[in-house]
Amino acid sequence: MLADKDRIFTNVYGYQPWGLSAAQKRGDWDNTKDILARGQDAIIEEIKASGLRGRGGAGFPTGLKWSFMPKESPDGRPSFLVINADESEPGSCKDREIIRHDPHKLIEGALVAGFAMRARAAYIYIRGEYIREAEVLFAAVQEAYDAGLVGKNAAGSGYDFDVFVHRGAGAYICGEETAMIESLEGKKGQPRLKPPFPAGAGLYGCPTTVNNVESIAVAPTIMRRGAAWFSSFGRENNKGTKLFQISGHVNKPCVVEEAMSIPFGEMIERHCGGIRGGKDNLLAVIPGGSSVPLVPAAEIWDAPMDFDGLKAVGSGLGTAAVIVMDKSTDIVKAISRISYFYKHESCGQCTPCREGTGWMWRVMERLRTGEAAVEEIDMLFQVTKQVEGHTICALGDAAAWPIQGLIKHFRPELERRIAEAGNMVEAAE
Ligand code: NAI
Ligand code: SF4
Repeated sequence: MLADKDRIFTNVYGYQPWGLSAAQKRGDWDNTKDILARGQDAIIEEIKASGLRGRGGAGFPTGLKWSFMPKESPDGRPSFLVINADESEPGSCKDREIIRHDPHKLIEGALVAGFAMRARAAYIYIRGEYIREAEVLFAAVQEAYDAGLVGKNAAGSGYDFDVFVHRGAGAYICGEETAMIESLEGKKGQPRLKPPFPAGAGLYGCPTTVNNVESIAVAPTIMRRGAAWFSSFGRENNKGTKLFQISGHVNKPCVVEEAMSIPFGEMIERHCGGIRGGKDNLLAVIPGGSSVPLVPAAEIWDAPMDFDGLKAVGSGLGTAAVIVMDKSTDIVKAISRISYFYKHESCGQCTPCREGTGWMWRVMERLRTGEAAVEEIDMLFQVTKQVEGHTICALGDAAAWPIQGLIKHFRPELERRIAEAGNMVEAAE
């Protein structure tokens, strides 16, 4: 179990104030100047050595991503850091806790990361629905400006660095990094084709890195305590500590920081008071936010909660939003509702996603009510394969994978519904 002394987010439950003086007592902004004095390359090397992988869902190595940014400004263009606080993945709520209870970790992280990447400014793009969180963030950024921690000669480092907060307007797709850049530029939030990746051509065509809130907020602590300390948690390729967000049918849902690779069952017993109705009452788990396939009870219990452990059981860590479903769950209805979400949030730019998400949802609804023909199960699976990998952004995959997981693990339940509905029609005749 992660000891209290090893927690990065010591105020995740908001027992202490979020403001600057309380944050400083918790160790934030402690000689930030000394971190910056180590130089850009040394910071990037330390983050690389820590093994930190992006905490927004994709798990791309953070230090490597930072190293893609140019050392010399091309044509005099500035570089930018964009921080993705558009947390919208169903089940995910960790960035919200960081912003409302520990915003100075994020702002200090923005300076450290922005400096390392030679960025002129950070844009924090916060989800429109996070109204109170945005208020806290605006106020915390103002505190940092007033204290000389950001702005001209940030934290006495001689480096000028601005931080801007930008509120989204409620579109899930704006969490996709290139849609976010479009939105920041004042355009409709639609993903761009990659490559070019943002490091080559990002915000206003300038070199840009987009990082998740948690990835940025842990950077100052890694720099203070060292890469070796951070990488002592978890296992090869899956290092560090991580905020897990556990919702659904557990006795005590919570957001908790734990060591990567903790087995699912151990985490639930230790932090959530167990599964509602006991371990035998568990049906299935979506371990990484709604974009990843569900895992049935028998396969999830001992699985290490990390990128490789969840891949091995056919799913993924994603945002580490763990949705627990007990045997009272209508699993077909749950996945159908997720399908509706993706249909609703598709930006409509590419045909497989625009048409496919609606199509998949309509078949899911017929499966839910049992009105579908049994052959449609295989046909639906084939449609998910036509959508997967054939779209501009990951939303198409995210719409396909939950359905694939349902068909793979709960086909008998789908067939039972169809048979039951058929029997009812026959009986009525
Ligand atoms: P991705 O794998 O395409 O990219 C991950 C990051 O690595 C991006 O910043 C990308 O620019 C960078 N990258 C990848 N290959 C690169 C290369 N060759 N050169 C330079 N940079 C490169 O994944 P994406 O689309 O950014 O994220 C998908 C994930 O987002 C899903 O797995 C899902 O879990 C998560 N997600 C999270 C949400 C949230 O609320 N936090 C909402 C929706 C999805
Ligand atoms: Fe838009 Fe869907 Fe295509 Fe992504 S996959 S660009 S959300 S239509």
